[in-house]
This record gives sequence, C-alpha cells and structure tokens, in this order.
Amino acid sequence: MEPTLTTSHALTDSRATTSLKNTPMIKLSEIEKVYQTDTIETVALNRVNLTINRGEFVSIMGPSGCGKSTLLSLMGLLDEPTSGTIEIDGRPVTSYSDKELAKVRNHKIGFIFQSFHLINDLSVLDNVELPLLYRAGMGGKERRQRALAALEKVGLSARTKHFPSQLSGGQRQRVAIARALAGAPEIILADEPTGNLDSVMGEEIMELLLTLHREANTTIVMVTHDESMALKTERVIRFFDGSQVS
Ligand SMILES: Nc1ncnc2c1ncn2[C@@H]1O[C@H](COP(=O)(O)OP(=O)(O)O)[C@@H](O)[C@H]1O
Ligand SMILES: [Mg+2]
Repeated sequence: MEPTLTTSHALTDSRATTSLKNTPMIKLSEIEKVYQTDTIETVALNRVNLTINRGEFVSIMGPSGCGKSTLLSLMGLLDEPTSGTIEIDGRPVTSYSDKELAKVRNHKIGFIFQSFHLINDLSVLDNVELPLLYRAGMGGKERRQRALAALEKVGLSARTKHFPSQLSGGQRQRVAIARALAGAPEIILADEPTGNLDSVMGEEIMELLLTLHREANTTIVMVTHDESMALKTERVIRFFDGSQVS
C-alpha cells in the first residue's frame, strides 16, 4: 500500500516559531566517547566536530563499528560523551537539569531504529500514543488525535487496531515513524531505518522521510549503509574508526 501523505497542522505547528534556517540545531565539539569494559577500552568516537543545521537532512555512512550509533545516541541525549560538548538549539546540554533533559528528549527529538522497537502487546494506535503519556498536561483526547494524525501521515489509518505482528516490516517501520512524529519533534534521528527492509519498502520509508523534511522542515540525521539513500539527502557525512573522514 502506498503511504498517503497529508499535511496536519496538529503535527507541525511548533515549527512556526522556529523556522530559522542555517542556525545550528545540533553542535558537537571535540566529542570523545570511550567505552570501558572489564579489560578493554574502546574509543568509539575520537574528537568529533560536527554541526547539523536546523532543517537539514543529513546522512551518516561508514563501516560497522565506526561509531555511527554512538554518535546518534549522543545527539539524542541518550548517552553522555566522555569529553567534549554537545549543544542543542544553541544551548549546551550540560546546562540542562535532568528534568529539562527528559523534556528535550521527549518533545524535541524523535527516534527511529532499524529494528522498529515497537511493543508487540500494544495495538498500533497504543504504540504511537505511548510516548505522549509522558507529556505533562496532555489529555487523552489530544493524545488520541495526535496519534491518529501521525498514522494518517504515514498511510496507516486503516491499521490502528492491528498489532505489530500483523504488519509487514515496512508497515512496522511506518508505525515507528508515526510514533516519532506524534510528538512533533524538531529533530528526527534514524539509525539504519531501512536496514531491515527490502528495497521496495526501504524506498517507501525514504520517501516518507524526504516528505517530512520537505513539509515540516524537520532536522533529520539518518545513518544508512545504502549509498543511493544517502545521496538523496542534503549532505553525506562519512565516518571511519570513530572519526569523520569527509
Ligand atoms: N555499550 C557499549 N559498550 C562497549 N563498547 C561499545 C558499546 N557500544 C558500542 N561499543 C563499541 O563502540 C564502537 C562503535 O560502535 P557503534 O557506535 O555501535 O558503531 P556503528 O553503529 O557504526 O556500527 C564499536 O567498536 C563497538 O563495539
Ligand atoms: Mg549502529
């Protein structure tokens, strides 16, 4: 089924006040990430300096183990660097309280993973509503409305009562995208979003991300192994062994 894409103001209105292009949205300075296990120290990122501008669609490529997922988890504030600074929207992450950080993660950033990360016991609609439960002051009616609008956007209005196991891989990834979209994030971080999909479904997901970028000016950082997908984005950043090489 072709995803039908519609513009929903419920999902895009936060953009109206923040439409300045070419200002840094995510800025990494001298980022180092070292994982310490019993005996082994792994330098996953080595002095990375990288700026993603507001509204940019950037792809990140590089061999397995070169630090791409680590980079995304730092950008998404899911982990902290060993050294270096991260600024989101011009503000150093270290200046946020834990409460503010949780809010930024939940409001500003949407994650899409290779393996979808859906909850199998919940319906499609409940999966999409789930992150909104953590929004202070948002009632059930608004949650429902946002989730339905997001599912409409990814062309899954007819599947709201299905469970993930009843969907194809491409449909599951579209649910995961709807879940990210329901929160109207300014930033989408996608870690190999088409990695588990065949080329036709992968293509569909890529078109969806391109449309989101175009319609809602969402800042998107996508890790991919697929050169043809990467070339559809505005900038390709290549990593090797923990460092940016081009
Ligand atoms: N939680 C962790 N503990 C220890 N080492 C890790 C951890 N996560 C990643 N690494 C190591 O850091 C390096 C970069 O990993 P990752 O960011 O997942 O790379 P990529 O996503 O490019 O495949 C690899 O050598 C990996 O083994
Ligand atoms: Mg990875």
